[in-house]
Amino acid sequence: MRRAFWVLASCMALPLVAAEQDHRKWMDYGGGPDSSHFVALDQINKSNVSQLQVAWTYPTGDDHAYLFNPIIVDDVMYVLAKNSSLVALNAATGKEIWIHANLPGLTTRGIAYWESKDRKDRRLIFTMNHYLEEIDARTGQSILTFGKQGLVNLREGLGRDPKTINRIQPDTPGRVFEDLILLGSATGEAYLSPPGDLRAYNVMTGKLVWSFHTIPHPGEFGYQTWPKDAWKYSGGTNTWGEITLDEKRGIAYFPTGSPTYDYYGADRVGMNLFANCLLALDARTGKRLWHFQMVHHDLWDYDATAAPQLLTVRHEGKLVDVVAQSSKQGFLYVFDRVTGKPLWPIEERRVAKSLMPGEQAWPTQPFPTAPPPFARQKISAADVNPYILTPEERAGWKDRIAGMRNEGLFTPPGMSETISMPGARGGSNWGSGAVNPSKGLLYLNTQDWPTIYKLSLEDPLGKQNSGADAKAVYAARCQTCHGVGGVGSGSGPPALAGIGKRVPFDSFRSTVHSGRGEMPGFADVDEAAAKRLYEYLSDGATAPASVKSEVAGPVVASGGAPGGLVIQEGNAADYTPLGGPAYPKGSKTPRVRYYTNWGLYPDQPFVVGPPWSSIVAYDLNSGTIKWKVPFGQDAQAAAEGAHDTGAFMAEHHGMIVTSTGLIFIAASDGRIRALDEETGQMLWSASLPAGSEGIPAMYESGGRQYLVVPASSNISPGGGHAGAPRPDVHRGYVAFALPRVPAK
Ligand code: HEC
Repeated sequence: MRRAFWVLASCMALPLVAAEQDHRKWMDYGGGPDSSHFVALDQINKSNVSQLQVAWTYPTGDDHAYLFNPIIVDDVMYVLAKNSSLVALNAATGKEIWIHANLPGLTTRGIAYWESKDRKDRRLIFTMNHYLEEIDARTGQSILTFGKQGLVNLREGLGRDPKTINRIQPDTPGRVFEDLILLGSATGEAYLSPPGDLRAYNVMTGKLVWSFHTIPHPGEFGYQTWPKDAWKYSGGTNTWGEITLDEKRGIAYFPTGSPTYDYYGADRVGMNLFANCLLALDARTGKRLWHFQMVHHDLWDYDATAAPQLLTVRHEGKLVDVVAQSSKQGFLYVFDRVTGKPLWPIEERRVAKSLMPGEQAWPTQPFPTAPPPFARQKISAADVNPYILTPEERAGWKDRIAGMRNEGLFTPPGMSETISMPGARGGSNWGSGAVNPSKGLLYLNTQDWPTIYKLSLEDPLGKQNSGADAKAVYAARCQTCHGVGGVGSGSGPPALAGIGKRVPFDSFRSTVHSGRGEMPGFADVDEAAAKRLYEYLSDGATAPASVKSEVAGPVVASGGAPGGLVIQEGNAADYTPLGGPAYPKGSKTPRVRYYTNWGLYPDQPFVVGPPWSSIVAYDLNSGTIKWKVPFGQDAQAAAEGAHDTGAFMAEHHGMIVTSTGLIFIAASDGRIRALDEETGQMLWSASLPAGSEGIPAMYESGGRQYLVVPASSNISPGGGHAGAPRPDVHRGYVAFALPRVPAK
C-alpha cells in the first residue's frame, strides 16, 4: 500500500510547492525565510502612526545589551533576556509563559523556528557553544531526542580535527526549510581557521543531510581557483551573516565572507571561489545552482553579510523575480533569482596591484554599472572631518591620508598604510536590509567608516622572545628578507653582515624599531636584543657557502615594489611560521606571514566628514536611488552647527517595512522612528528606555497590531553605539500599539 503510494507520487512528478510566506506573521528571524522585514498588516498607517503608544514592556533584567530579534508564533513571543534565558511571553501582554534559564553562548541575534505539518511538534532551534540544540516551543524543555542527548557538535564533519577548532558557531540563526535547518558559521579570521562549509541538518534527528564546501575539495567546481592543498588549511569563506530562502523555488541564498587570513593571501593564490560570493544552492540537496563572486581574492575583509533580498521588479517590460545583495563595499548587486544573470551589466575593471611579497592581488574586480553605489567609495585629504577634530588632529589626518596608498576600493594592503572607503565596517551589514517585495523597493541602513590597513610581520597575538639568542632571532625574523647570515638577497633588501662598519648602532636600532621603506618595524625588539643583533651582524654573521642556494629563493617583483622582497616557498612541514599553527605536511606554502591589527580601523570613526550613516531607498524597477537620508544626528557635531550628520557606528539597526508605506527603525540614541516609504521623511518618533540594536518585529495578536523593539543597549546621544552604561536605564523589549478603541 505504502509502496504503491510512492510509485504513484513519483509518477505524477508533482512540483514540490511550498506555501508562500505569510507576511502577516513574524515567525522567524528577519520576519521569515525571505529576510524581507516586510509586514502586510494594515492597522497602523501613515495617518495614525503618530498615535502609537507603549502597550507593554518586558525588562531584560540585567545590564546586558540584547540584540535579539523576537519571533512570534500564534500569540507567543520568544525573546532572549536576563542571564541569557530564553523566555516565552504572551505577545499581547508581555507576561511570562515559561523561562529556560542560563543559556550563555546562545546566538545573540535570534533563533529559528520549525513546526510539523500538523503543528503538534514545535521547536526553537539555535546554536550554543558550537553545538546545535532545540527547545520545545510550548514547554521550554530541551529536546533530548535531537542529536546525541540533545546536542549536535558543529566542530565535527569539517574535515579538520575538531579539537583544533576553537569556534565555528555563527551568531546569526540558521534558516529552516522543510525539515532542514540550514547553517552558516563564524570560523574566526586567523591563518588556518576552519573552513566555512555550509551545512543542513535534519530538524528531528540532528543528522547532517548535506554540506557544501565553500573551499572546494579536489574534483569539485572551483577547486582550480586555489592552490592545490588550500582545502586542507585555508579557512573562512563562511556565511556568518544572514541566509535567505526562496521557499517556493527551494533556493537558499548564502552571502559568503573572506577567506582567511583576510589581509594577506600568499597561501591562497587564486580567485578563491566561493569566497565573497552570493551563492545560490538547492536548499534540499546543497547543490550549487549559480554563484556570483563580488570580490576576487579578497584582501580587505569585504565579507558579504547582509541578507540577500528577494523582490519582483519590472525590468525591460517584464516582471522579474530578483535577488539583491548589498555589500560592505557599498555596491548593490542585482540578479535574476533563478538564473543568476545580473539585471544590469557588471563590469570587470582593472584594479591596483599588490606590492607585497608573494601576494597576487586579482587584477580585476567586478563593478556594477547600476544601480549606483549606496555609500561613498572614495576618500581624500579633503574629506577629513570639519567637525569634532581639533585643528591639530585635522591637519594630522590630512597629512596622513595624503601619504597613504589610495587607489580606490581595491587598493591592496601593504607595508605602508592604505585606506579604503566605505571601509571594512562600512556599507551594509547584518540586519541592515529590508524590502517592499512587490513594489520593487529596497532599503538599507549604511555607514561610512574608512579602514586603514598596514601589514607587518608582527602577529599582534604572537609572543616573540626578544631575549633569545641573536642568531635565532635573526633567523626567525630577519632572514627571509635579508638572507641567511645577513648576506642580502640580490636585488632585495641590503646585506647586513658587517653592518657595524657602515651604520651606527643608534641608526640600526631605530630602523629595527620603526621599520624603513618596505621593511616592517619590530617594536618588540628591545634595546638589549637589538644590541645583540647588531653585534651578531657586525662580527659573527656570514653566509655559509653550503646554504646559499637555499637562501636566494626567487626574487618576487611583487607588482613593481621597489627592489622587490624575497619570499621563499618550500615544504613547510618542518617550519612553524611566526605566531601561528603550521601548514599541513607537504603543502607548498609561503614561509612568511604578515598580519594587520594595526590601525585597521582609525580609532576615531569620525575621521571623515558627515554623513556617517544613512538610510537609502532603491527603486529596483529603474535601478536608481529613490532617496537617501542621514540616520541619526551626532550631538557634538550638531553643537558645532552641523546638520544631518547621521550617527557614528550606526550599523545593525534592522528596519521594518509595512504594506501601508511605513518604515520603522530604532537607534542607539534611544528613539524609534517611522519614516514615509516614499520620501524618507520622518512621520513619528518616540523615546525608548534604552538604546536599540538589532532587528525589531511586527505582528498581530488578539486583533491588535504590535511593534516590538529590543531596547537594552546603552544610550548614545548621537545614535551610535558608544554610550556609557547608565544604571538608571530600564532595559527591555518595548511593544507599541495604537490605543484600544473603546468597545461600543
Ligand atoms: C619584509 C622584509 C624585511 C624584514 C623581515 C627585515 N627587513 Fe630589514 N630591510 C628590509 C628592506 C626592504 C630594507 C631597505 C629599506 C629602505 O632603505 O628602504 C631593510 C633595511 C634594513 C636596515 C638598514 C640597512 C642599511 O644598510 O642601512 C637594517 C639595519 C635592517 N633592515 C635590519 C633588519 C633586522 C635586524 C631585521 C630583523 C629584526 C630586519 N631588518 C627584517 C626588509 C626587511
